[in-house]
Amino acid sequence: MEKNMLEAIKETAAFIKTQVNELPKIGIILGTGLGDLVNHMEVIKEIDYKEIINFPVSTVEGHSGKLIFGNLGGKYIMAMQGRFHYYEGYGMKQVTFPVRVMKELGVETLFVSNAAGGMNKEFSVGDVMIITDHINLFPENPLRGKNYNELGDRFPAMTEPYSHRLIKIADEIGAEKSLRLMHGVYVGTTGPTFETPAEYEYFRIIGGDAVGMSTVPEVIVAKHAGMEVFGVSVITDLGGKDITEVPSHEEVQKAAITAQPVMTTLIKELLARI
Ligand code: HPA
Repeated sequence: MEKNMLEAIKETAAFIKTQVNELPKIGIILGTGLGDLVNHMEVIKEIDYKEIINFPVSTVEGHSGKLIFGNLGGKYIMAMQGRFHYYEGYGMKQVTFPVRVMKELGVETLFVSNAAGGMNKEFSVGDVMIITDHINLFPENPLRGKNYNELGDRFPAMTEPYSHRLIKIADEIGAEKSLRLMHGVYVGTTGPTFETPAEYEYFRIIGGDAVGMSTVPEVIVAKHAGMEVFGVSVITDLGGKDITEVPSHEEVQKAAITAQPVMTTLIKELLARI
């Protein structure tokens, strides 16, 4: 990013403030195939990423690229429909820029969702996994480089990347509504290749339950900014040394759609209770 990052954040936030009357305290990043949540929102304002100063433009199929302001589960929220992935060629500062802008707008709680491959042998395709922790296997940390003390600490703790409070509420919702909710550790990698059988196995052995190509950079920046985070993965394919099915982008999208009723119930209820 050429401009000073602080100036860019303020400039983008100032633009967004001209577009909406009210600023949300909750932000949601909708991952692959999970855009359907928007259909349950009472939409107040949509802003195309193209119109937003300093925003990169999303390029991947299935990511439409809009900021959506509106109500869901009785809460006023902002949702990112489409995110920026490292594998698209964006730098880490670009991938995480929208989270910085959310914070500048007053967002205190961030929900993140993604599609992920499952390595945990208990998982099935279409399962929803509450992310309890992550392992950053991206070759770069989004906080590398100059630290802006205004944004957060030089060496932020990552002891509780995913809020225990929110996980507990999610589990209560799961129990009440008989939702099959798994728990697990998300491994973040660059992609765009899916994993080899040995790589899925390796990620399982180091403590991972699911692997995907997003989320970790955004969560690191959200924690740096002092936000409370809740993350969910939809298990769209399974990997490991005994598994021969070949994952594809189409399969991932299809499986994500299967999980939508559980995702929608969970997120709406969680919003209603926080
Ligand atoms: N690996 C990495 N990213 C993914 C996968 C996977 O198996 N499935 C969905 N996103």
